[in-house]
Amino acid sequence: MAKAKKRILFVASEAAPFIATGGLADVIGSLPKALAASKRFDVRVVLPLYEDVKAEYRKDFRFLGSINVPLAWRRQYCGYFEYKLDGVTFYFVDNEYYFKRHGCYGHYDDGERFAFFSKAACELMSFVGFYPNVLHCHDWQAALAALYLKTYYCHRSEFSQVKAVFTIHNIEYQGKYSLDILEDVLDISNAHRDLVEYDGAVNLMKGAIECCERVTTVSPTYADEIRYSFFAHGLDPIIRRNAWKLCGILNGIDYDYYNPQTDKALFANYSAEDVSGKATCKKQLQRMLNLPERNGVPIVAVISRLASHKGLDLVKAVLEEFIANNDVQFVLLGTGEYEYEQFFRGLAARHPDKVSANIAFNGDLSRKIYSGADLFLMPSKSEPCGLSQMIASRYGTVAVVRETGGLQDSITPYGAGGNGFTFHNYNAHDMLYVLREAVELFRNKKEWNELVIKAMTSDFSWSKSAESYGQMYIEMTK
Ligand code: GLC
Repeated sequence: MAKAKKRILFVASEAAPFIATGGLADVIGSLPKALAASKRFDVRVVLPLYEDVKAEYRKDFRFLGSINVPLAWRRQYCGYFEYKLDGVTFYFVDNEYYFKRHGCYGHYDDGERFAFFSKAACELMSFVGFYPNVLHCHDWQAALAALYLKTYYCHRSEFSQVKAVFTIHNIEYQGKYSLDILEDVLDISNAHRDLVEYDGAVNLMKGAIECCERVTTVSPTYADEIRYSFFAHGLDPIIRRNAWKLCGILNGIDYDYYNPQTDKALFANYSAEDVSGKATCKKQLQRMLNLPERNGVPIVAVISRLASHKGLDLVKAVLEEFIANNDVQFVLLGTGEYEYEQFFRGLAARHPDKVSANIAFNGDLSRKIYSGADLFLMPSKSEPCGLSQMIASRYGTVAVVRETGGLQDSITPYGAGGNGFTFHNYNAHDMLYVLREAVELFRNKKEWNELVIKAMTSDFSWSKSAESYGQMYIEMTK
């Protein structure tokens, strides 16, 4: 007889291809699929049904029914929808009062919205009769699902065997609220106040770390780093105390979704066996961005949210010097803090034949840049995992990264036989030094092409990492 599959329920606030604002969506869109492919897991995912969920999918969602979800004294309408994709069942929680607004986050009542969502995720288990072996909650928006499970639902026999995992995608966002709303809005009994109270406030991430059987984060190096105050945004004592149940598992990327051989957004397709199409991608990108069409000049690209922890202060400090003194082109794609947007706009105005600044969020253009550029710069101050350096590598664009978090775990220095360029200190001239080194190597066609192939053939698929998650689920439910 075939062994029964382990049941896993993911709770998360976004997932590709339905709704995406960041790397979390990539992970929730691809890890369940990789787990389901192993045939050992029945993986399901629950998400909020935001207004912005893509209509092309939404029109095919199947309505399962509705209930009233209790949230403290409230009784809130909750509709459940279902959609199956790549062997994974996705559930969507509908409530127009909470979710019929633009944008996923940043509303005044986010605490209440995600408390409702987390409650609805717990109620879903009874509603569809799916009691998972593991409830896997991601980031603070889903932290309350683990808290409700471990403080309330676990007293019912159907839930008593459900284990919980919490994954930290970025420790900067913890879900902090005033203690005043503990019972009335967040529906946490005063008896459990100790679990969530931290620094005089409710801290939802802290609560989930305390009450889950396992805690993971998205790279081994980040799992180490967050034991220190420089990285932990105040949570380092909690991380150190719970270090025994914490591990880091490096994210992968979806190899079907990011495939230079089939990607329709590209000007030409190519592979590690035949890279010739990449030159076409470069030429067309230069044409599109009004840069001189020269194959012999390296294109350095940055695709990033324009926020300071992405290392943009280093870029600001030395990029102009780098561009003025070297035969290079520079392409930026991203939006964010005004200071950086203005810097890149100014740079492009001063060097129109060398710099293209695209202040936008544009998936199609990002793929054209990943494929058309030669070097991909990502000098983050901290980076839990980072996916762009992996996507760039897969498209044969060599990554230049700072050695932190997942950047350190995915990109290794060329000099030591690795797949990219790295620097250690958060120092603009250290970055400048490796950039010059990279541009130097670019002039040596033979060695450069070998490095491009090395980057393209590095394994960033989910297979290894999904296996690590799978092992963890199996161990914790023995
Ligand atoms: C967060 C992190 C990023 C990581 C992503 C997926 O966005 O900042 O480094 O790659 O989550 O885990």
